[in-house]
Amino acid sequence: TRGGVEFAVADLAPAADGRNQIRLAEHEMPGLMALRREYAEVHPLKGARISGSLHMTVQTAVLIETLVSLGAEVRWASCNIFSTDDAAAAAVVVGPHGTPDEPGGVPVFAWKGETPAEYWWCTERMLTWPGDQGPNMILDDGGDATLLVHEGARCEAAGVVPNPADDDPDELKVILDELRASLAADPTKWTRAAAGVRGVTEETTTGVNRLYRLAARGELLFPAINVNDSVTKSKFDNKYGIRHSLIDGINRGTDVLVGGKVAVVCGYGDVGKGAAESLHGQRARVIITEIDPINALQAMLDGYQVARLESVIDQADIVITTTGNKDIVTVDHMRRMKHQAILGNVGHFDDEIDMAGLRRAADARRVRIKPQVDEWVFDSGRSIIVLSEGRLLNLGNATGHPSFVMSASFANQTIAQIELFTKHEEYDNEVYRLPKILDEKVARIHVTALGGELTKLSKEQAEYIDVDVEGPYKPDHYRY
Ligand code: NAI
Repeated sequence: TRGGVEFAVADLAPAADGRNQIRLAEHEMPGLMALRREYAEVHPLKGARISGSLHMTVQTAVLIETLVSLGAEVRWASCNIFSTDDAAAAAVVVGPHGTPDEPGGVPVFAWKGETPAEYWWCTERMLTWPGDQGPNMILDDGGDATLLVHEGARCEAAGVVPNPADDDPDELKVILDELRASLAADPTKWTRAAAGVRGVTEETTTGVNRLYRLAARGELLFPAINVNDSVTKSKFDNKYGIRHSLIDGINRGTDVLVGGKVAVVCGYGDVGKGAAESLHGQRARVIITEIDPINALQAMLDGYQVARLESVIDQADIVITTTGNKDIVTVDHMRRMKHQAILGNVGHFDDEIDMAGLRRAADARRVRIKPQVDEWVFDSGRSIIVLSEGRLLNLGNATGHPSFVMSASFANQTIAQIELFTKHEEYDNEVYRLPKILDEKVARIHVTALGGELTKLSKEQAEYIDVDVEGPYKPDHYRY
């Protein structure tokens, strides 16, 4: 704690650099700035105590300061051990008017290069408010904050923390350790926290999938808004965001020429489509793997070869996973890869590539090239280059998606926070989406910012296609 602000970041010294970047990003984030103007007088988040778990980048700094300008108190952690921009984290702690000696900003618990244990410590700190309070809102990306509260409350109800099963993910094993300590110190901490939370707004596909599973089992402890499936989120951030940041991560990590190479993209959902376009844009020859015939057919009509990984792994110069699923690239696949081929993941968790298996493999050893870039050398003499230890490489090796696309995502986040904070009693413990009219509002702001000119419907045209002149313009089942 310094100047009354609690924090755990790498260093406050780069705060001025971070502030300059935030200032430039604000100009590129018209959605968030429009919301700041719209609610300047009203402060709809006054009284909100938001615990946020989302990549602590420059763009997230603009989100955090938007929530604060709308009246919220905020605490923050990153949702990935490599994704923090240390200058942005410092600037948020220092705040727009503070100094490193006298910070006046927001408590942040995040630095680039946390260990998994440090990661859960940061998440726990972010969810622990001064005094006897908990958060009353959660803003989540990937669902780890929501997971900690739910696992905590479940263990407290049982009065015991279970021993991890062998096949539990490593991250769950770490939380169980964290919970064992917390159960001893305060046996109702997470039950109270869960009871005080009015709702969670979830950023990404993987976190949303977790929420629907909790809701289906009747175990969701508070209402949730699925921000990912706002059209102006997943059809933009996941696709156009990755189109920008995937190639950025590959370039900064390896500086290898992508043109002319064979690149395999596993998964052709929203992220896969952006990844394929990113690599095709550099004129790689792109091959897609898919389980879903609809996505596979889309890939083929977009001009890509569709194949099984087994059939093409030994031709690939670059392999990128985007599935949100596990065990996509196995150690056997890696052994068959070309010498110095590049392997990376942009799906949310690091189990798409069998990193645990690679670490255990007796015939592979790691040579650290630089942070977040490892050469894994096999006894065969061949080696592969693994980016960000199999975690989100666009955030680990680069700085994630650019501001403009995150403006649309975070405008949805902000609207969702206001909605659940102010109207939580209208919601059950289920997963909801924002109404289409708000999606159109977010899109309209960004069309205007880019200088686009929208055509206006005439009253007669509106009646002819049976919509309102002011929107929404599409039925809910429309897929864009
Ligand atoms: P999605 O559901 O649209 O796409 C995933 C695709 O992978 C689906 O088409 C599915 O059929 C396919 N798939 C599943 N198992 C497969 C397998 N064994 N082999 C080949 N394909 C398989 O999901 P979306 O929105 O594209 O997200 C994917 C992941 O990326 C999620 O974990 C999400 O949270 C994450 N994400 C990462 C971002 C980043 O900045 N790196 C940004 C947004 C999302």
